[in-house]
Amino acid sequence: QPAKAWSGRFSEPVSDLVKRYTASVFFDQRMARQDIRGSLAHAKMLARQGIIGAQDLADIERGMVQIRGEIERGEFDWNLDDEDVHLNIEKRLTALVGDAGKRLHTGRSRNDQVATDIRLWLRDAIDQILALIGEFQKNLLDVAEANAATPMPGFTHLQIAQPVTFGHHLMAYFEMSRRDAERFTDCRKRVNRLPLGAAALAGTSYPIDREFVARELGFDEVCYNSLDAVSDRDFAIEFCAASALLMTHLSRLSEELILWMSPRVGFIDLADRFCTGSSIMPQKKNPDVPELVRGKTGRVNGSLIALLTLMKGQPLAYNKDNQEDKEPLFDTADTVIDTLRIYADMITGIRVKADAMRDALKQGYATATDLADYLVKKGLPFRDAHEAVALAVRAAEAKGCDLPDFSLDELRAFSPLVGDDVFAVLTVEGSLASRAHVGGTAPDQVRAAIARARSTLG
Ligand code: ARG
Repeated sequence: QPAKAWSGRFSEPVSDLVKRYTASVFFDQRMARQDIRGSLAHAKMLARQGIIGAQDLADIERGMVQIRGEIERGEFDWNLDDEDVHLNIEKRLTALVGDAGKRLHTGRSRNDQVATDIRLWLRDAIDQILALIGEFQKNLLDVAEANAATPMPGFTHLQIAQPVTFGHHLMAYFEMSRRDAERFTDCRKRVNRLPLGAAALAGTSYPIDREFVARELGFDEVCYNSLDAVSDRDFAIEFCAASALLMTHLSRLSEELILWMSPRVGFIDLADRFCTGSSIMPQKKNPDVPELVRGKTGRVNGSLIALLTLMKGQPLAYNKDNQEDKEPLFDTADTVIDTLRIYADMITGIRVKADAMRDALKQGYATATDLADYLVKKGLPFRDAHEAVALAVRAAEAKGCDLPDFSLDELRAFSPLVGDDVFAVLTVEGSLASRAHVGGTAPDQVRAAIARARSTLG
């Protein structure tokens, strides 16, 4: 009995360093459940096709039940000498059931086996992520609904621009998350195809039934080219790209939470359970969780680049380079899953300081555009209106007041078109209510957007 599954043709063993360098068992054992599932479907197909006997299948099934139990109980003896999850399980199976275990690998290669395992694993991860996005969205909608009419300054260039409602602002993130969910759903279609049957690269001479295996494993279809099936990891790259975008969106939200929570801004407070203190400055409450979300976005972006770089120079078909696909992929899924779980909870712990938002609006001449629009509606060309309001803002700045603090006479000095109906548009509520089209910030529109969103969530 040779020491390794493949060592028959070798005249000397690999060094311990090479063994460690080439092994993947300490990270790919995460796919054990998927590996067993794939093997059982393959064995069932082999038996149906008369490639192995019914007794072989029964033995393999019995052995796999035992192995699954050992792994779940943490009793399985993972061994570096057996390289990866596939050979570890196969070796244990053979120890348990003898020759049937040795027949399992008929018509199969680790190349199509590993590609199948990753797809099964990733499909589960995507399903989990989609459920978590849904939870995040639900909670986001609750906070948005409670603040559908809460005025806050909208910013451009981080300068106060125009009034929006806090609910409208949060709904921007809902839209982003909706596209994120679409991307994962779309990516799942391409993940959910079966590589098994491709064998090492060229297919196999046994009379296999790939459609049967695909059905057994819940794949939508088979991969239609054996070389492609074992060699491409574009589905994993796509997953990382969708993850990088999702994290980018959450990173932007995190940046805003951090900013809003800064005592200099003070728009919100985060629940204590998402913050930490300082070991030296007793007064501090730091937004560590959003900061880490922002930070972890960097590592997800890094994983995307790692996988793209891993792939770009590989000739067809399988190369061992591909063993390096797993850690970035697992790390990405772990990071996205934890981030979504934490965010779904954190979002409900936002305490909105509506007074601070309103105070900020007063200091920023946020309704200046509304005054210009008002003059346009009275017949002034927009450029002239812009100029008149700019002079009014300068005067307000000099006087240290906000635009609605001017008297009617003071406002008329900037344009004789100003009438006493001007105060309706100069107020924050008037400004908000006037943006009453689809996608606008009028509270009624925000409520309509939330209702629409709830109906798509089901
Ligand atoms: N551990 C390997 C991987 O992750 C399994 C495939 C190995 N195939 C091979 N021909 N060496 O890619």
